[in-house]
Amino acid sequence: MTDAVVSDLQILLDSRGIEATVERVAAEVSADHTDGVVLAGVLRGSVPFLADLARAMSIHVRIDFLAITPYSPGTGRVRLLKDLDIDITGRDVVIVEDIVDTGLTSEFLSAQLNRRNPRNLSVCTFVDRPARRVAPIEPDYVGIEIPEEFVIGYGLDYEGRYRNLPILATADPAVLKENPDAYIAALY
Ligand code: IMP
Repeated sequence: MTDAVVSDLQILLDSRGIEATVERVAAEVSADHTDGVVLAGVLRGSVPFLADLARAMSIHVRIDFLAITPYSPGTGRVRLLKDLDIDITGRDVVIVEDIVDTGLTSEFLSAQLNRRNPRNLSVCTFVDRPARRVAPIEPDYVGIEIPEEFVIGYGLDYEGRYRNLPILATADPAVLKENPDAYIAALY
């Protein structure tokens, strides 16, 4: 690991920053859903955030997961790979994401879930990057808003790496493209 590679990394939130952020978001979601809520986590990036969020909430929470296929640049078509197990009709539901980037994931999942007539549906994301938005999505609950930078850690990956980092950091996509493991020695 060269110093040049390490200096590409910028820590946006350390573990204390993450904890404080999650506590704030959990208080916001709890205040708006006093009858309890279904947290619908989008696999796999939302898992660390959802686990911390659920434990920091002061209301009754049910946890379920969804997964979708990645967007194919050609068709833009996407489909559900894993659906919720819980019937959400008449319930308050919060979609939990790692990052809202283009907003296409949120848009697709919101449309799918709204068809089931939940009492209320909202979107909660740990990271919001509005600069690259394609779909007209404004998440209801946001941990941190970032400019146009690639981020890793706290669920966010590059080709499956870095999800379990207890920090949120920017990384250079050109470095990762060259070597997906480039930051491993510096970060673990
Ligand atoms: P969308 O563009 O809002 O539909 O987000 C699609 C997915 O791309 C997210 O759920 C993330 O899994 C992934 N993604 C987008 N930006 C980043 C990033 O900066 N780091 C890691 N994953 C990302």
